Formats: sequence, structure tokens, C-alpha cells
Amino acid sequence: NPIYPLVLLLSYLCGSIPIGLITGKMVKGIDIREYGSGNIGATNVWRTLGPVCGSIVFAADVAKGLIPVVAAHHLPHISPWFIVFTGLAAITGHNASPFLKFKGGKGVATSVGVALGFSPAAALIGFGFWALVLAVTRYISISSILAVPIACVLIWILNGYTLPYAVFGVLVSLYVLVKHKSNIARVKARTEPKVTLPSILMK
Ligand code: G3P
Repeated sequence: NPIYPLVLLLSYLCGSIPIGLITGKMVKGIDIREYGSGNIGATNVWRTLGPVCGSIVFAADVAKGLIPVVAAHHLPHISPWFIVFTGLAAITGHNASPFLKFKGGKGVATSVGVALGFSPAAALIGFGFWALVLAVTRYISISSILAVPIACVLIWILNGYTLPYAVFGVLVSLYVLVKHKSNIARVKARTEPKVTLPSILMK
């Protein structure tokens, strides 16, 4: 059925819409890639343009992962593998966008959206863990690197310990880790910015 590859392609294209970049251009006429960490994700938009733009980009990047997974669930005769590949396609789109010469973000918010589509409970517990690690370390990057595998393990458990979700968890956790290489180097060099309450609330 040609609908299945088409859904994967649409999922990839949905993920690849560079919301952070578009927001920076529309709101301030800036290229977000020239500011802060240089990332197009919600964290860097929040850091550069403040909480309103940051939360809008976060919500939109989450939606890019959630919408394709929810849509895939509505197709007839879908397998867990197909659902998992739909989620991976959206995350890959965000990280390797054809609109950005196959560059992009780090895939955290879009993975949150995919996780919400797989298991809302796992996504919410993962988010709670993310907030906890953030409160302790004050590093958003470290929170993301640690919370994504936690959420993935929960997704795997809550989906009956099945292989597609195990594969998803390993791939996404590694993808997020690899994409945070520059953050890890900055944490080691003590140049990674730590989040403070004023830095979250003001701009
Ligand atoms: O979601 C990305 C976040 O974990 C790190 O973002 O801008 O600090 O590299 P950033």
C-alpha cells in the first residue's frame, strides 16, 4: 500500500519544518543559528528571544512529533514497527532538515511529541525527570540527555516490552546523545550556560 511510504515521507517533512528558525526571522528578523548555542531548538529560542517565543517553538516542535504519530495510529492495519518508524521519521526531519541542507536541531522537543504519541504517561514522567535533573544540575542539555533514555525505557515497558519500542529507545537515545556533543564539550570546559530563574523568566 503506497500510503505507508507516503506517511513516512510526510512525517519526515512535518518534522523538518524549522519552526525555531522561522520564529527568529519573523519575530526579530534574526537567524537563530547565529545566536547562543547556534541551535534552532526551543532552548536556544527561549535563551535568545525569551519565554513567549521559546514556549511557542517548544509546543510547535512537540506537535511536529505528535501529529504524525497520532495520524499513523488512525491508519488501518498498522504495525508497531510502522508507528515507531513514523516517529523516527519526524525526529530525523527535525535534526536533518532538507530546508537546512540536512542540518537542524537536536531532536528533544520533537521526541517529546513522539513520546506523547507512544505513551503520554512515559512522556510526562520523562518530563518530570527532566525538570528534576534541571533543578539539580541547571544544565538543560544534561537534563535532555538523561531524560530521553528514561522516557524511552518507560515507553518500552508500557508498550509491553516489545522489540520495536526497544529499537526506538536505543536509536533516539543515541541520536540525542550524539547531537549534544558540543554541549558535552562545553559542560566539560565549564562554558555551558547554567539556567537560572531570571534567565528563564526574562528577556
Ligand atoms: O533541546 C536541546 C537542548 O537540550 C540543548 O539546547 O541550545 O543549549 O544546545 P542548546
